[in-house]
Amino acid sequence: MNKNFIVKRCASCGAIIKLLSDCDNSSIKCCDKEMETLVPNSTSAVVEKHVPNYEVDGNFISANVAHVMEDDHFIEWICLVSEDKEYFAYFVPGSDAVAKFPYVPGSTLYSYCNKHGLWKTDVV
Ligand SMILES: [Fe+2]
Repeated sequence: MNKNFIVKRCASCGAIIKLLSDCDNSSIKCCDKEMETLVPNSTSAVVEKHVPNYEVDGNFISANVAHVMEDDHFIEWICLVSEDKEYFAYFVPGSDAVAKFPYVPGSTLYSYCNKHGLWKTDVV
């Protein structure tokens, strides 16, 4: 089982924070509003262009997202979350949303599109 992966976003300014842990009554504010918790794969958008893909290569995986990388619409990061570790790779417009992570069966890959939110796939 992977630990909880909790990411919150400010609906006003777009700031994103990642929590190490959370409680049932948390109220984290930005721009005078409570930040929203991002739920993976909850946005109405083309799934195939947002869910991260991967290929196993020995003890590593090559993760990627087949998504445009334009100035105003791109994959900001991909993250691998396992039971006891997290690995982030950050991207900029014009780059490729490709990252190499350790191969950890049972882990989860997340991707974040600046327009379409958080997406995930399980690593088997
Ligand atoms: Fe997108």
